[in-house]
Amino acid sequence: MTLSIDNLTKNYGSYTALNHMVLTLTPGVYALLGPNGAGKSTFMNLITGNLVPDEGEIYYDGIPIRELGAKFRGILGFMPQQQGLYENFTAYRFLSYMASLKGMGSREAKREIAWALEMVHLTGQAHQKLGAFSGGMKQRILVAQAIMNDPKVLILDEPTAGLDPKERIRIRNIISKISTGRIVIFATHVVSDIEQIAKEVILLKKGHVIAEETPDAFCQMMEGKVFEAEMSETEFARTGNAFPYGIS
Ligand SMILES: Nc1ncnc2c1ncn2[C@@H]1O[C@H](COP(=O)(O)OP(=O)(O)OP(=O)(O)O)[C@@H](O)[C@H]1O
Ligand SMILES: [Mg+2]
Repeated sequence: MTLSIDNLTKNYGSYTALNHMVLTLTPGVYALLGPNGAGKSTFMNLITGNLVPDEGEIYYDGIPIRELGAKFRGILGFMPQQQGLYENFTAYRFLSYMASLKGMGSREAKREIAWALEMVHLTGQAHQKLGAFSGGMKQRILVAQAIMNDPKVLILDEPTAGLDPKERIRIRNIISKISTGRIVIFATHVVSDIEQIAKEVILLKKGHVIAEETPDAFCQMMEGKVFEAEMSETEFARTGNAFPYGIS
């Protein structure tokens, strides 16, 4: 199973958000790192078909995904970066709704919902309203909808955003557990989310892939470039906008 990204380019007007990206992805977890605006969500939305490339092509096992159409969407799981939840829906009703959007029959939906709830540790909360969920539980139910129906390609756009360390570890463990035999792309700003589970780190900057490394090699690359320092607020203000991904 291979997802090949061939010269993928996306422009918004005169701005190039993704610039001739070339990548080959096989089963395993890929960490997608990069500062705000690097093009992570653009890349993900091109895979899911929410955006159409200006140049280039994405191939799944050698066939362009635009030719595969619904067939490709059927093997895709997606957790978008910003997703509203129906606060009045229970977790179970939300997953039933997502299952019907994915075209599942009722018996299949029942089985998939039970499995997905189990995976994200929300079986006991299935009949609670989403409005009463904590941020971490909401993220987990969004992960649950993405993993239903056995997706071969799983796209998670910052699934750990805004979570406390415990919930981050939970999400990381869930993703690690279900990653076998799937291509998983996991966007995050936090290296500790992925250093133990990713087979590769893809670093994006201004629409370019500037590094593609194993997590170990990536961390080595960062050696000497990342440091901790104690300083006063005034001193901090003087450092200017030293961004953590500021490799040039
Ligand atoms: N619909 C749009 N119209 C115009 N410009 C856009 C649009 N969507 C994204 N962009 C621009 O494209 C660039 C890449 O955006 P993208 O959302 O892909 O970045 P990102 O890496 O996901 O950032 P973040 O970490 O903030 O989620 C940004 O400069 C953004 O302003
Ligand atoms: Mg984004």
